[in-house]
Amino acid sequence: MSAPKTINRRASVSASEPIRNIPIPTNPRGVPESAFSTSPTANTGALSTSPRLATSPSASLGSSFADRHQRNVRTLHAYLPNSFPVPEEDEGVATPTRQGKVKLLLVENISLDAANFLKKQGYEVDHLTKALSEAELIAKLPEYHAIGIRSKTKITAKVIDSCPNLLAIGCFCIGTNQVDLTHAAKRGIVVFNSPFSNSRSVAELVIGEIISLSRQLIDRASELRAGIWNKVSKGCWEIRGKTLGIVGYGHIGSQLSVLAESFGMSVIYYDVLPIMPLGTARQVDTLDELLNNADFVSLHVPEIPDTIGMIGAEQFAQMKDGAFFINNARGKVVDLAALADAIESKKLAGAAVDVFPREPGSNGPGFNEDLGEFIPRLRLLPNLIMTPHIGGSTEEAQRAIGSEVATALTRYLNFGTSLGSVNFPEVDLRAISIDDERHIRVCHVHRNEPGVLRAINAILGSHNIEKQFSDSKGDIAYLMADISGVGIEEVKDIYEAIKGTRANILTRLLY
Ligand SMILES: NC(=O)c1ccc[n+]([C@@H]2O[C@H](COP(=O)([O-])OP(=O)(O)OC[C@H]3O[C@@H](n4cnc5c(N)ncnc54)[C@H](O)[C@@H]3O)[C@@H](O)[C@H]2O)c1
Repeated sequence: MSAPKTINRRASVSASEPIRNIPIPTNPRGVPESAFSTSPTANTGALSTSPRLATSPSASLGSSFADRHQRNVRTLHAYLPNSFPVPEEDEGVATPTRQGKVKLLLVENISLDAANFLKKQGYEVDHLTKALSEAELIAKLPEYHAIGIRSKTKITAKVIDSCPNLLAIGCFCIGTNQVDLTHAAKRGIVVFNSPFSNSRSVAELVIGEIISLSRQLIDRASELRAGIWNKVSKGCWEIRGKTLGIVGYGHIGSQLSVLAESFGMSVIYYDVLPIMPLGTARQVDTLDELLNNADFVSLHVPEIPDTIGMIGAEQFAQMKDGAFFINNARGKVVDLAALADAIESKKLAGAAVDVFPREPGSNGPGFNEDLGEFIPRLRLLPNLIMTPHIGGSTEEAQRAIGSEVATALTRYLNFGTSLGSVNFPEVDLRAISIDDERHIRVCHVHRNEPGVLRAINAILGSHNIEKQFSDSKGDIAYLMADISGVGIEEVKDIYEAIKGTRANILTRLLY
């Protein structure tokens, strides 16, 4: 049996350098100017399609490498179905017209920076502050080629079926439950989101919680607000020299590891995958080993069947007496009644909880027993920090989400790259350069069935296929191919021929 592959995140995170995909505040608003670059090439749509350039916000269209790289990139124009003007007859010769503007609808008050970035790409962008209902979407969305939503706008199968022009959906948030992903893929509509833009925000909150718990900060501060002076040092600790146990060493866990070490903590972590440690952190073999040895235990696992209920009475019993517990991952991972028992019995000296099995749908009163009979108990416990799922809620994270999703939408619309999509196979080709004048790009979403490549190659047979890449995800496959020696007058015929193939779902030609 071959040795399990170790995941190396060292390249992207280091203790001394700023983490590359996290914007570093440089202006009074606390957000960097560069996240939405106004590089000279940006308004030409000349984004790189190279997979070597991360799609993260700071893959910034403004970096000098990207600028140099993009200068040579040709701006492409889409030859698209339905919505775009049909070729005009010019003295008997069919010439595909340049398409009408790509139209984007942004709802739910998506960041204006994202809207402006998309406008600079030459798109027509309509920006609404509210969410739209299904009926409103069905009435309004058919004229658009892409929509940007947050979590309140539901893109159902009915909405998708009523929008034949829709090419892409950008979820300017973490989750994508609000979109019927499978149905979207079946209609050739790609969906992007931004799952990791707030990792740093969560990691920083955990550091704040570690210090706050070990100094009983929230209790002292609340007492003083109530007029009670209570100067104590018993049970209050420095965090230097203490052991942090991280459960789940992914995007957040690994960043937390770096931050904690810089405070002088020792870090151990448990993950189902073998992952290369950062700094002097050490991976342990079992969850119990971590629980037995950590002064602070912080959870950073996804909510999946394996992790639901993974921390309960048995696991709290395994922890050191007087240890602290933190959950900023997902509510269903922890048995909160068992946590209340562990704090009441003084087994644990405190805990921080940002996520709950059931959470109120809106701000305001409502954090009560309706969400679980343990809630009233939790509200009375000493040294328990409860926060309303704010781990990732920072200005920087919101801006990074806007930048990442706007960039992903642009790359797909302009160049066909589906890297980072949640419902499509991830396919990309290096850019067509300005020297490649008679090159066109075929973007062909099709049903994943035998014979497709044979059919496409028969159509493209008389041209030189410079590069092509195809991948599938379930029933859907996506082919990108760059063909040289294509006259502009041939574009329509190639398009019609590919569109007419048996497995075609959606074809675009970029030229
Ligand atoms: N509180 C918030 O506002 C907030 C914000 C962002 C993310 N989150 C949550 O934080 C969690 C971690 O996010 P991330 O971006 O670091 O995810 P990630 O996918 O990058 O990392 C998760 C890690 O957990 C590991 N893992 C999976 N199952 C495990 C198990 N049974 N035991 C141990 N390790 C296991 C994975 O191998 C992976 O390394 C997720 O649940 C996410 O939803 C919360």
